[in-house]
Amino acid sequence: MPPHVFISRAIAPVALKRIEAVCEVDLWDGEMPPPHSILCDRVRGVAGILSLITDRIDSEIYDAAGSALKVVSNMAVGYNNVDVTAAAARGIAVGNTPGVLTDATADLTMALLLSSARRIVEGVEYIRSGEWRTWHPSLLLGRDLNGAALGIIGFGRIGQAVARRAQAFGMQILAYSPSLSESDAQSAGVTRADINTILRESDFVSLHCPLSPETRHLIDADALKRMKNNAILINTSRGPVVDQAALYAALRGGEIGGAALDVTDPEPMADNDPLLLLPNVIVIPHLGSATVQTREKMALMAADNLIAGVTGQPLPNAVTL
Ligand code: DGY
Repeated sequence: MPPHVFISRAIAPVALKRIEAVCEVDLWDGEMPPPHSILCDRVRGVAGILSLITDRIDSEIYDAAGSALKVVSNMAVGYNNVDVTAAAARGIAVGNTPGVLTDATADLTMALLLSSARRIVEGVEYIRSGEWRTWHPSLLLGRDLNGAALGIIGFGRIGQAVARRAQAFGMQILAYSPSLSESDAQSAGVTRADINTILRESDFVSLHCPLSPETRHLIDADALKRMKNNAILINTSRGPVVDQAALYAALRGGEIGGAALDVTDPEPMADNDPLLLLPNVIVIPHLGSATVQTREKMALMAADNLIAGVTGQPLPNAVTL
């Protein structure tokens, strides 16, 4: 009997085929994620679950699946939606998809950085609303990247890829990671700094840390007060790393210059969220890894983790505690 697996959304066909060659697949192909209660029903007796960041994978899911469950393969590099500790306690392996989405996410970070620095969205709105009459020396003036300081909080794969791109634009990089050594900082051509120094000295601050109890609301009212009045905050990590109410207050009060968010808290953001009314804010719907090639690579990596888990092999990319 092939191992029975549940896949919580339609993934790239090439990856689905790879799984179907080995497993009996139950696929949820709705546009919206399966509600938690339905997820519990559908995972009964499965050996593997391929989940997305929109699925909460917790003890209820593990209980519902029962002792057959060997692996949860999360199709994302982040795994804050999966209770990894509870999985480990039950001997369930957890996989993720690091590496393959680094460039796509770093590219998107630069897109947000450039768009906010050069007021691209405001420019588009300006034309669409019929306001464009002439060229004017002070029309929609933005900020130079060359010579500006970019503070990177979270200097893992994605943070480092952002640094390389920003260096090509002539930016000076300040970087923080708990594990960043002086020699690694030097070889990356960045200045190692603590979070307070980054907040105080950066013209742009970009967040690349995982969401954990330590990083939830890392950027709170206090942190925002420490930033330069014209600094721009970019978040492509996880929404709850920023206290969004505090961000709104800081923007309204002129404590910082702008924000560009790929991730929000909650997701989706309510369409009447006051942040959406501010001209110096750009919000996009969690598109960091959203390229055709990257999503296919993520799906294939998630497929390989799933297949390895259900066939008793070590996962090619296992999350370790
Ligand atoms: C991830 O992989 O963690 C992204 O947020 C979704 O691609």
